[in-house]
Amino acid sequence: MTRGALQEYIPVLIEKAREVQKHSYAPFSHFHVGAAVLADDGRIFTGTNVEPPVMNLGICAERLAIYKGISEGAKKFVAVCIVGPTDSITPPCGACRQILFDFGVEWVILPHKDGIDVKSMHELLPYAFSEDMITTK
Ligand code: THU
Repeated sequence: MTRGALQEYIPVLIEKAREVQKHSYAPFSHFHVGAAVLADDGRIFTGTNVEPPVMNLGICAERLAIYKGISEGAKKFVAVCIVGPTDSITPPCGACRQILFDFGVEWVILPHKDGIDVKSMHELLPYAFSEDMITTK
């Protein structure tokens, strides 16, 4: 999707990410994150970070949103919006960048106090390992 075509989806993705952020379960970090992903079939899936009692089993908001989409039959995604509790952006962690890339995300929308940063996946994960490099299967 072109940057231009993405524009119409940005407001709804921000709204959905902010809405779901209320359900973030983050008793350890208190860093409440919400994410909304747009699938290439037009559906939007949301997720929050979840920090269960066994801390290392937690998951980031954007990865949960992708996995929810996959579990509902989505195959590929176009864009993700991530919102955190601070005035600045909440960019995806390294592990999530790989997952976003693997499932086709092209654009990452990062709202902050003074506006909205829109980054391409390539900007956030250059020189990426991709599935088609696996030639041994
Ligand atoms: N977190 C996310 O859910 N997404 C991000 O993009 C950055 C970090 C979560 C993971 C953890 O629950 C908390 O924020 C603090 O790192």
